[in-house]
Amino acid sequence: MIENFNIKNICCIGAGYVGGPTMAVIAKHCDHIQVNVVDINKERISLWNDKDLNKLPIYEPGLKEIIKECRNRNLHFSTNVDDEISKADMIFISVNTPTKEKGIGAGQASDLKWVEASARRISENAKGTTIVVEKSTLPVKTAETIKTILESSKKYSKNNLKKEINNFYVLSSPEFLAEGSAINDLENPDRVLIGGDDNDAIIALEKVYLNWVDKKKILRTNLWSSELSKLTANAFLAQRISSINSISSLCEETGADIEEVSKAIGMDKRIGSKFLNSGPGFGGSCFKKDILNLVYLCNFYGLEEVGSYWEKVLELNNWQQKRISKIIISKLFGNLFNKRLAILGFAFKADTNDTRESPAISICKDLLLEGAFLSIYDPKVEINQIQNDLFKNGDDNSRVCVASTIQESVEHADAIIILTEWEEFKKINWDKLVPLMRKPAWLFDTRGIINLQKLISLGINVWTVGKAN
Ligand code: UDX
Ligand code: ADP
Repeated sequence: MIENFNIKNICCIGAGYVGGPTMAVIAKHCDHIQVNVVDINKERISLWNDKDLNKLPIYEPGLKEIIKECRNRNLHFSTNVDDEISKADMIFISVNTPTKEKGIGAGQASDLKWVEASARRISENAKGTTIVVEKSTLPVKTAETIKTILESSKKYSKNNLKKEINNFYVLSSPEFLAEGSAINDLENPDRVLIGGDDNDAIIALEKVYLNWVDKKKILRTNLWSSELSKLTANAFLAQRISSINSISSLCEETGADIEEVSKAIGMDKRIGSKFLNSGPGFGGSCFKKDILNLVYLCNFYGLEEVGSYWEKVLELNNWQQKRISKIIISKLFGNLFNKRLAILGFAFKADTNDTRESPAISICKDLLLEGAFLSIYDPKVEINQIQNDLFKNGDDNSRVCVASTIQESVEHADAIIILTEWEEFKKINWDKLVPLMRKPAWLFDTRGIINLQKLISLGINVWTVGKAN
């Protein structure tokens, strides 16, 4: 048993968008705990250890400051997976769980190979009593798999006599952070979930959170409720976006204004005002994956109607992205051949360098298929990432250039397409920028963040999501 349930050494497997920021915040608030973040990706770990804090592998407002304060104090990044597991009292699993690409459940179910690999590595290397916490979003009942792998590892000597007692407790504590606001979400969570069936293990994890989270916000549930709550929260959030996006198309047809509609419905306390911004469709690593997972689960349990209900949320999201590509093409006379389009924003949302499932990817691909030349500017996404997202090895990538300023991207462009709601796009000096464009020039604002009157006064054609255009 862990002495007084005092956790002194935490290991986190996976130094990604969830593991990195989550462990940084734990280290910041728990200077009595050594936090070791491990990953098999050497390059990622060396970036976490880079002296130049601008090179951290993840961009999150506020993250740099915490790394500066805690790194090498009680926060360490390494590839010594086995060693750090063996020293830990508590191990978080924060590895990637993408949608399966082949085999049973391909295209829907989560690929658990990295979770299973982590569980096996824990079972081989952990010593004494260890609490294993699922942090990654996982399908319901994954904890069962982890438990089974861990249980089968009780260590035996050659003649099958028990050599060392290994005790494992498995908890689920899904992370609800959103990228771009990860540090604030972690420091001021709406709630923290701890799912599990062992009271002592739950108390041990609760004690870690209590260093900065109010007890009233810590919710205990059973394992399966915790796992399902995470999938359900993401499905509900994504559903809101698909709902408002569906209404944006109706606004464009009828002359209603999506901003006014969002405000009007959001003032109803039962609906609430958040997550009602219409846009080019949701992206990010979670929404699509989690809904696919939910659909797979529903179908697995014979609940096809429920599965197809949630599937519609994804269909509408794809439709919104395609709809926007088609509008751009049709407004530019149905012909993009050799037209230069300035793409402002490539990340799936502002304040992150993450492009996973970014609507920019599918919209840019549609425009390239029509023969356009794209000049892409994003303040945080690296050139290599954009190239990897748009092209496979050997593809012709000569019709995409990555600009290092807004101005460079917009020079000689026939149209500007705003795909991410970066703050700097809201502050563009249009008087300076518009003369650089080829006329007739267009602005397509898929995020509804630009003052259209100003652009109209400068002689630009404008289209914005959810408004009569
Ligand atoms: C989401 C959940 O919010 C978070 O709780 C969970 O832990 C992980 O998944 P994330 O994907 O990082 O977080 O970002 P989020 O802010 O939810 O945005 C997801 C997508 O929805 C983005 O593409 C964003 O631009 C879009 N969105 C969000 C809208 O189009 N309109 C909105 O009103 C809000
Ligand atoms: P998330 O958004 O869920 O954090 P990421 O892909 O950003 O997902 O990060 C997951 C990290 O987990 C990656 O850096 C990956 O290299 C790491 N990882 C995957 N499997 C293992 C493993 N078995 N051991 C250690 N690290 C792993």
